[in-house]
Amino acid sequence: MGCQYFEPTSDGAQSFTVAIPKLTFGRGTLSEAGARARGLGMKKVALFTDPHLESGPLVAIVLESLRRDSIDVVVYSDIRIEPDDDTVTQAAKFLHEAAADGVISVGGGSVIDTAKAALLIAAHGGNIREYFAPPVGEARAVPGPLLPHIACSTTSGTGSECTSISVIRVNALNTKFVVANPHLLPEVAIVDPQCCDSLPSNVVASTGFDLLSHALECYTARAYTSHAEVADPGARQLIQGANPFSDLSAKEALDIVGKYLQRGVADSTDHEARDSLMWGATLAGIAFGNSGTHLPHAMSYGITHLMKDITSQDYKVASPFVPHGISVIVCAPAIFRYTAEAEPARHLEGAAFLGADSEGATPEDAGEVLSKRLIEMMRATDIPNGLSGVGFGTDDIKSLAESSNRQTRAIANAPRESNLVDIENMYADAISYW
Ligand SMILES: [Fe+2]
Repeated sequence: MGCQYFEPTSDGAQSFTVAIPKLTFGRGTLSEAGARARGLGMKKVALFTDPHLESGPLVAIVLESLRRDSIDVVVYSDIRIEPDDDTVTQAAKFLHEAAADGVISVGGGSVIDTAKAALLIAAHGGNIREYFAPPVGEARAVPGPLLPHIACSTTSGTGSECTSISVIRVNALNTKFVVANPHLLPEVAIVDPQCCDSLPSNVVASTGFDLLSHALECYTARAYTSHAEVADPGARQLIQGANPFSDLSAKEALDIVGKYLQRGVADSTDHEARDSLMWGATLAGIAFGNSGTHLPHAMSYGITHLMKDITSQDYKVASPFVPHGISVIVCAPAIFRYTAEAEPARHLEGAAFLGADSEGATPEDAGEVLSKRLIEMMRATDIPNGLSGVGFGTDDIKSLAESSNRQTRAIANAPRESNLVDIENMYADAISYW
C-alpha cells in the first residue's frame, strides 16, 4: 500500500496531480484584486460579471482596487445564468477585441465558467463545442496556457474559482456539458465571504447543496488507482478520481455544510454560518477540481435539459428554471442508495461527516443512512421533494435517463457502474421522498 491508503490496481494510476490557484480567503479580500492583477503583470483587465452584479457594490470594490493600482479595465456583463456556446463565442470576441492581458471574473459559476471558456477560445480559436469530450465534441486539445485569470466567486456553492472545469450549455442539444483541462485553472482565486451577506436564503440553500454534493461525490468517487495510468504527465486530467488530497478537502467541506447549512439558510446575519459555508464551497471546489464529480451531477443535466413548468424564486432568469444545486440534490438520496453497495464505508463516513447518527449501522445500511440524512437536510431547508418537486413525473423517466446517459465521463467516475436502465431506476426512486 505504500504511503497511501488507496489499494493499487494492476494497470491503474499510481500517481495523482494536485492543482489549485493561489487562493486568498477572507472578508475584505475583494479589494486585493488590483494588487493581484499587478502581480500577474496585467495592465489592461477584462472584468467579466453579470448584469445584476455590474452596478452593485462587489464589482465597485474590484473596480476601485484596479483604479488604485492604475490598471485599465473594460467590463463585459452580457452573461446569462447557465451560459451557452453563443455566450462563449461573444465573450471570446469581446476579449480578443479588447486586447486585454488578463481577466478578472466576479460572479457565480456562470460568470467564472464563461470567463474560462472565453479565455480558451480567445487564445486557441475554434468553437467551445470542439473541446468537449466525445460523443458531444471532438476532445480538441488545448495546446498551451491562456491569459491569466483571477476568479472571484460571489456564491457559496460553485467552487469554480478552484477548478479547471467549465460547464457550458450546447444550444443545438439544449443541454450542458463539461470542458475540463488543466489550462482552464485560474491563476488566482479570491473568496470574500462578504459576497454572501445579501444572498436570499433559497439561493444559500441551493448553492449549499451544490457544495454538499461536490464534496460527497468526490468522497465516494472511484479511487484514482482504478483510473488508467497516463504515460504523458501533461495528459493527466484533474478529473482523476478520489485521492488523498481530495479526501482531505471533501471531509472538511462535508463537516462544514452539515453543521452550518440550516443556520446559513435561516439567518442572513449569521456570519459564522455564512462565512463557513463560503469556506466549505471553496474546499469542495478544491476537492472536485482534483477528483471529479459523478452521478448526481451527471443526472442533474437531464433535469436542466428537460425542465418545463417550473419557476424558481429569487433567480433573475426566465422560466423554466431549476437552480443548479437543486437539480443536483433532488436525485442524490436515490443515487447514493444505489452507489452505497460499492463503497459502503465511504457512504457511512460521508453520512457521519454530515452529522448523521450512524451508530451501529452495518455496511448494508450505508445507502439508507446517507439518504436519510440528505432528506432530513433537504426538508429542513425547504428543498423541493425530489423530481416531482421540480415538475417531473414517472412519464419523464426515460427521457431524463437518455439525456443524462450522455455524461459519460462523470458516470464513469461513480463508484458503481450504471447503465441506462440503472439510471432510469434511480430517477424512479427519486420521484419523491416524503
Ligand atoms: Fe455543481
